[in-house]
Amino acid sequence: MVKKTIAVLPGDGIGPETTREAIKVLSTIGEKYNHEFNVEYADFGGVAYDNYGHPFPKETKKICDRADVILKGPVGAPQYDNISNVNLRPERGAILPLRARYETYANLRPIILPKMLKRISPLKSELIPEGVDIMMVRELVGGLYFGEKKQGTENGERYSMDTMHYTESQVEKIARFAFGIARKRRKVLHNIHKSNVILTCVFWNEIVNRVSKDFPDVKLIHMLVDNAAYKLVVNPTQFDTMLLENMFGDILSDEGGGIIGSLGLLPSACIGPKKAYFEPSHGSAPHRTGKNTANPYSMIGSVALMLEYAFELEKESKTIWNAMFSVLDEGYMTDDLAEDNAPKEKIMGTREFGDMVVKKVKNM
Ligand code: IPM
Ligand code: MN
Repeated sequence: MVKKTIAVLPGDGIGPETTREAIKVLSTIGEKYNHEFNVEYADFGGVAYDNYGHPFPKETKKICDRADVILKGPVGAPQYDNISNVNLRPERGAILPLRARYETYANLRPIILPKMLKRISPLKSELIPEGVDIMMVRELVGGLYFGEKKQGTENGERYSMDTMHYTESQVEKIARFAFGIARKRRKVLHNIHKSNVILTCVFWNEIVNRVSKDFPDVKLIHMLVDNAAYKLVVNPTQFDTMLLENMFGDILSDEGGGIIGSLGLLPSACIGPKKAYFEPSHGSAPHRTGKNTANPYSMIGSVALMLEYAFELEKESKTIWNAMFSVLDEGYMTDDLAEDNAPKEKIMGTREFGDMVVKKVKNM
């Protein structure tokens, strides 16, 4: 039995309604396996800006600081894109500071398309006979996102600059993490880089090569990022685990959503030395907000990742995945996954999908 406190940040848009389903599933797991999960809710993102004047207010920081782990919904909505102080917009005022605060250097983005959902991928079926199963490991607190930024005037015209900055220990840490993941999977690690142009990638690769000596059982393949973007579409099954610099990981993980045909199937884990947070990598889908049509898969999947990576509760985590796949296997789906000719009785609302997963968890 474990006893844990979870800071829950439902966020904006479809965040609250998908979070509600995820917490229902978590509570069911707690009852079934006799764990005590205490949840503490806090505002984060646009809703926090509205209520406190800041997207990551000190009240929320306090709740996150004292929790064992954080479960976060998507944040942002069109009305917050116009906040004149860019540092108070949800992305720069909440998400990046959250990552920095807990040094969540390792971002795990599983790109999984179970076989029964193959139809939703835009790829030809023969390219993905067994569906898709790729683990993207994205560095999350360095590189272009966090390097020095500068704007000013030179030679009479304005300029703007962001820098890709990595220290040796930063690269070493994420490389070790990625090798560790690859070792537990198919033992192939693709290191994604752009060393033909970017000096920092030459440095990155040198460190990755050094770390690889400690993982002789894992096959290391270096691949240029542009080539990887192409290969993900024409031959995705060659990939198992991918190691990516922050910006490359941001871009290719959305491409991952593209090859599986939905951003709605992307849970993720952001892991730091002392604390981790778990979140869907999709946005807040304002057009679906409050309509009970949002897909809670990524939010529920983020709970599964939390159980596995934060609490080492592998069995419990598997139960959630099996429950969710079993619902999908029976042909049930949310509206975002439904084709035009999908049978109406199989299309579930957010709440109904959550209920079905809960029921499966209980019966497993
Ligand atoms: C993501 C998002 C964020 C990022 C934004 C919202 C800051 O796109 O988590 O992939 O760029 O990292
Ligand atoms: Mn992104």
